Amino acid sequence: MIRLIGFLVAGLFLINLLSCQSDEEIKRQRYITEGIFLYKNNCANCHQNKGEGLAALYPPIAGSDYLKDKKRVICLIRYGQKGPIVVNGKPYNRPMPAQPQLSDLEIAEIVTYIYKEWAGETKITDVKAVTPILEQCKQ
Ligand code: HEC
Repeated sequence: MIRLIGFLVAGLFLINLLSCQSDEEIKRQRYITEGIFLYKNNCANCHQNKGEGLAALYPPIAGSDYLKDKKRVICLIRYGQKGPIVVNGKPYNRPMPAQPQLSDLEIAEIVTYIYKEWAGETKITDVKAVTPILEQCKQ
């Protein structure tokens, strides 16, 4: 009997664990769906649909070494970026406009999408992590 109860408790614990994970995964999928839409409307003009960039004008996001520093990417989306930068060994020097119309949540969704699509990330970039970063680089 005790063994049976133990078994049931363990089973319930496992079911709970699995459903927690899938809640997180459902949230991530929602971020990605929104992120695709937001990317198309706010970024693809310059960086193109597949994130490949445009000649020497707009740097690629797909496979970009710039993605290693996620804080910098989060801040650059809201506040833009000026001055020369090097992406995957190539120089670029055109201003990227600030995007003050994007909310913290929308930036989190875009970041979740671009890191999933072009940096192989499997985790969500939650808005709860994005807001304090945006506070730090407030301009
Ligand atoms: C008007 C064109 C334009 C738009 C729109 C734009 N960018 Fe950019 N982006 C640039 C340019 C130009 C640079 C390089 C800036 C420099 O040379 O200092 C850049 C740099 C970047 C970088 C760092 C370098 C790299 O390629 O990894 C990232 C990441 C990035 N943009 C993401 C985005 C995202 C996400 C959006 C949409 C929210 C966006 N950009 C919208 C033009 C644009």
